[in-house]
Amino acid sequence: MTPTTRQECAALDAADPLAPLRDEFVLPAGVVYLDGNSLGALPRSTPGRVADMIEREWGQDLIRSWNDAGWWDKPRTLGAKVAPLVGAGPDEVVVGDGTSANLFKCIVAALGLSDRSVVLGEAGNFPTDLYVAEGAASLAGAVQRRVDPDGPGLERELAAGDAAVLLLSHVDYRTGTLRDMPGITRLAHEHGTLVVWDLCHSVGAVPVELSASGADFAVGCTYKYLNAGPGAPAFLYAARRHHASASQPLSGWHGHARPFDFTGEYEPAPGISRFLSGSQPLVADAALEASLDVWAKADLALVRAKSLAMTDLFLARAAEVGITSVTPAEHARRGSQVALIEPEEGAGYAIVRALIARGVIGDFRAPDVMRFGFTPLYLRHTDVWDATEALHEVVRTGEWRDERFARRDQVT
Ligand SMILES: Cc1ncc(COP(=O)(O)O)c(C=O)c1O
Repeated sequence: MTPTTRQECAALDAADPLAPLRDEFVLPAGVVYLDGNSLGALPRSTPGRVADMIEREWGQDLIRSWNDAGWWDKPRTLGAKVAPLVGAGPDEVVVGDGTSANLFKCIVAALGLSDRSVVLGEAGNFPTDLYVAEGAASLAGAVQRRVDPDGPGLERELAAGDAAVLLLSHVDYRTGTLRDMPGITRLAHEHGTLVVWDLCHSVGAVPVELSASGADFAVGCTYKYLNAGPGAPAFLYAARRHHASASQPLSGWHGHARPFDFTGEYEPAPGISRFLSGSQPLVADAALEASLDVWAKADLALVRAKSLAMTDLFLARAAEVGITSVTPAEHARRGSQVALIEPEEGAGYAIVRALIARGVIGDFRAPDVMRFGFTPLYLRHTDVWDATEALHEVVRTGEWRDERFARRDQVT
């Protein structure tokens, strides 16, 4: 039952098995943070872990840390810690580079496994996915075609029989729509198409089952729900069955079978390591490790149940004040964010700015989406209630019409 008073929310918080995890995060007083789907909050252990990496591993142990602190193996050891969050084997994920670079590697690798020459992209996907697919396709002599993954056109496009690879976001970055990973992957495979999943808005937000879904490749960032910090390294998944045959285009020495032979000929490593390229940002890796150690304490089923309860509450309260949601009402189709639209020109942006001025931090995605992310590790039901109280006031009083809320910042 969705709570209808703040007291009912407080009762839910008192009984919440995830509540102790909130203490693992630094959360500024007076802020309800609904933007963890863009930049996650800072784990309390991160500054100490990063300081130790810098002062001891680097400062004192110097070059010896490549062996003694496991620096060389970090992409694999961190990949193994990401793996349970995405339903993958520990040897199927590596951490390194950024989401965009990893997308490029996966798309080119998938094209290389097929004799077809179409990348089926998603109309309305996050722009980097569209841009990288365009670039990767043109370098590989292929083309990108775009499809609405939530409409009947997807099956028709796949049935055309010319798509080498389908690139989809598991959760839509604007609307928060969750796609049926097992169903879509099965359909694509039936038509001879491989699938690359972008997990940026689903890892840490919803349970992800890459292996059970038969997914081929996937990428994801770690600075949103995984809380690894701004610009933190991304991860890449390749199904074990593709390891021996897939080759990626950024064939650097970290992906070599025997990097310390320093030979002039490239020979890809036998497993997931072949997806690595060069040296990684080890200071940022230390921050990621701290945040993954917090995630290791979380039960994903509980995270999902709390996320749905919080988005149910937010959706119900937004409806009370007459604001339209473009986030699916069905649980099976909803990620961990709510996207609202207010049709009046400029209203969405100004409402988000007015909420931020009250300490309720969400964000805005052009042309008209107000986005609110729900992170069960550190949000309480009472926070959601308080955020909706602020939303009610901002909308009912017309507070958002103040001209200071119309000024555009560089990052919205
Ligand atoms: C779906 C999706 N893919 C990719 C990215 C970003 O890519 P990168 O980490 O390379 O900046 C984002 C960022 O918000 C995203 O939402």
